[in-house]
Amino acid sequence: STRKKIIAGNWKMYKTPRESLEFLNAFLPKVHDHERDEIIIFPTATSLSTVIDRVRGTHLRAGAQTMHWLNEGPYTGQTSPNMLTSIGATHVLLGHSERRLYANETYEHVNLKIKAAIAHDLIPVLCLGELLVDRQGGFTRDIIMAQMGAALSNIPTENAKQIVIAYEPVWAIGTGSTASPEIANEVHSIIRSQLEWVFNAEIANNTRILYGGSVKPENSAALLTQPDIDGLLVGGASLDPACFAKIVHTKY
Ligand code: G3H
Repeated sequence: STRKKIIAGNWKMYKTPRESLEFLNAFLPKVHDHERDEIIIFPTATSLSTVIDRVRGTHLRAGAQTMHWLNEGPYTGQTSPNMLTSIGATHVLLGHSERRLYANETYEHVNLKIKAAIAHDLIPVLCLGELLVDRQGGFTRDIIMAQMGAALSNIPTENAKQIVIAYEPVWAIGTGSTASPEIANEVHSIIRSQLEWVFNAEIANNTRILYGGSVKPENSAALLTQPDIDGLLVGGASLDPACFAKIVHTKY
């Protein structure tokens, strides 16, 4: 396929600005000539501008792990889309399961945030994924369809091009047990057919669908060689520069 793959690191609540710089000083030389894939880092809010300044002029991009959908207002603790673009952020993770589980992010919030990202020319990385009980009950497809239906409702087709999707089965996040590449690919292809249903075949063919959940250098090749896996959203294994660089250099 012609979809350029994306290797993204979600640093979650790790790394001070100083630690972020230490990471980049070690990581950038290892990937400076690697243009095969898009490389994106999602640092925590207090490190975001430091990371953006350090990667300026390189092919790396950086984004936020969440945002509010409004531009400003009395919302203590929140960050707005124009605040993110004002410091040079290009991407934003939306609907990560940790936000849905621990920060009461609802289906409706995710939809408002996707629309706000599009309105501000931020590339939204929409995270989807079922819980272990959903999978065990045979509801994976239903959950994915419900999450997609809600998140993508009332998005005009011409705006759908910039959306990136990340499939992250919640039972595989931080647990060490990755979905098998075949199981992951099966859900990716469900997501792709749903994109065709919601938008059209062109959008479905061009949308990058990343896999996330216990990705490591040992399993990245098997995942990236699946036909519908267009990249990786890496948590724990993106915190160490040598380890994350190995994932970036995966042979596929
Ligand atoms: O956004 C990243 C995912 O939550 C995966 O995290 O690689 O630590 O399992 P993990």
